[in-house]
Amino acid sequence: MLRVEGLYKAFGGLRVLEGIDFQVAEDEIVGLIGPNGAGKTTLYNVITGYYKPDAGHVLLDDEDITGLSPAQVCRLGLCRTFQIVKPFGNLSVEKNVAIGSLVRTRSVKEAHRAAMEEILFLGLEHLKDVPSRSLTLSDRKRLELARALATKPRFLLLDEVMCGLNPTEVKGMLDLIRRIHDRGIGIVVIEHIMTAVMSLSDRVVVLSQGKVIKDGTPQEVSCDPEVIKAYLGEGYQHAGT
Ligand SMILES: Nc1ncnc2c1ncn2[C@@H]1O[C@H](COP(=O)(O)OP(=O)(O)OP(=O)(O)O)[C@@H](O)[C@H]1O
Ligand SMILES: [Mg+2]
Repeated sequence: MLRVEGLYKAFGGLRVLEGIDFQVAEDEIVGLIGPNGAGKTTLYNVITGYYKPDAGHVLLDDEDITGLSPAQVCRLGLCRTFQIVKPFGNLSVEKNVAIGSLVRTRSVKEAHRAAMEEILFLGLEHLKDVPSRSLTLSDRKRLELARALATKPRFLLLDEVMCGLNPTEVKGMLDLIRRIHDRGIGIVVIEHIMTAVMSLSDRVVVLSQGKVIKDGTPQEVSCDPEVIKAYLGEGYQHAGT
């Protein structure tokens, strides 16, 4: 279980997280939604050790991991992807993924073997020797996932992995996220594509101005007047309603 309690974070006078309580279990896919600037990416940054919170705690199975470095957090099994994907452009796909594997092994040979496993899982084998800078956006997002999976996470925090993809690619990404979840990995998805996040998530958490304004099933969230006002808009209708 990954849990966040009473998390606060400000940048100078800008209060970005104002007392966030949030949790996700290994057997869940949780959607994290909310308007631009709500604090979603900042929450990932605090959970994964890129920023220290001003107050509050991050707990993994009741162990307090607040303030550990990103590398330490990753070794404990929390891995995130970045909203703007930044692979090492000159390195091949295989080498980029092997860098992820090196979190778990010191042997370069073993890192490459483990990397190939994830490359096959992601269907990137035909691109393994290609420098990552020449990949399409869709393949770059897959590479980002392969790199994350190579660190052998227990929880994976995805930041807009579907942004910029066409509908067919989004569908492929949804299948992929479900397959990752089937490996027993708990998943949080930040996503603005509502049909995608609502169909994928067991539970959806809505952030607005640094606060959780709703935590419920996709159905409950879609019908909530405050969520509609803060984010979804009056025109939004959940497919199931
Ligand atoms: N390092 C930083 N220094 C100063 N302000 C920051 C920093 N990181 C984020 N912010 C500010 O914090 C607020 C929340 O940003 P954040 O990136 O967490 O939003 P978000 O919910 O991920 O939005 P989006 O949906 O647009 O990605 C914004 O006003 C942003 O400008
Ligand atoms: Mg963001």
